[in-house]
Amino acid sequence: MTNDTARGADRSFLFVLGSSRADGNTEILTRAAAAQLPAGTPQRWVDLNALPLPDFQDGRHETDDWPAGENERELRRATLAATDIVLASPLYWYTLSAQTKRYLDYWSGWLTAPGSDFKERMAGRTLWGVTVMADPDESVADGLVTTLGNSAAYLRMRFGGVLFGNGSRPGQVRNDERAMIRAKSFFQGETPLARFPYEEGAGRR
Ligand SMILES: Cc1cc2nc3c(=O)[nH]c(=O)nc-3n(C[C@H](O)[C@H](O)[C@H](O)COP(=O)(O)O)c2cc1C
Repeated sequence: MTNDTARGADRSFLFVLGSSRADGNTEILTRAAAAQLPAGTPQRWVDLNALPLPDFQDGRHETDDWPAGENERELRRATLAATDIVLASPLYWYTLSAQTKRYLDYWSGWLTAPGSDFKERMAGRTLWGVTVMADPDESVADGLVTTLGNSAAYLRMRFGGVLFGNGSRPGQVRNDERAMIRAKSFFQGETPLARFPYEEGAGRR
């Protein structure tokens, strides 16, 4: 199934950088992919290190409101302002970096805040992933792919998949020719509605 709206002019991208270092491989690969977006596509880049979040406190089942900090509010606004959310996380221990995971944990708070329409508003938007890892075999990143795919399914989002790169020292991903080639067309890929593995249509691309 092609997804015409995926390439529409009304797209706006939020790039969420979740590495623990500046100018890392994941950012390099993400910027290479973003450079291919149609001219004029709104892009916002946030570095989770510049907008640090405290550990998520699970107040979902408590009556008292948990006061949101300014960084949380800013990230929530940026998330809701985008049609496409790109989680750019290095592979850490075969999954997302702690910063990226913590940002996702906050989605749970935003889902359940009193009067929240977060779930309704996220439905139909598109989640993407970019990850760079030291291991040359991307199959070790299955856990990260599953996390993003199931999270998108939970929110009834579309899922554009994960762009993989290989590298360890900063800049090394530039030598991963296959990744740099795949980056060029990554955001032109299909974005099917995400499905849990047990749902009908799961795995169909
Ligand atoms: C805390 C930590 C955990 C890591 N875990 C893995 C891993 O599980 N598998 C892997 O292949 N590489 C792992 N790496 C290597 C990074 O994925 C690799 O250095 C990557 O290029 C970092 O991306 P960045 O430059 O965007 O920060 C790990 C690195 C760190 C610092």
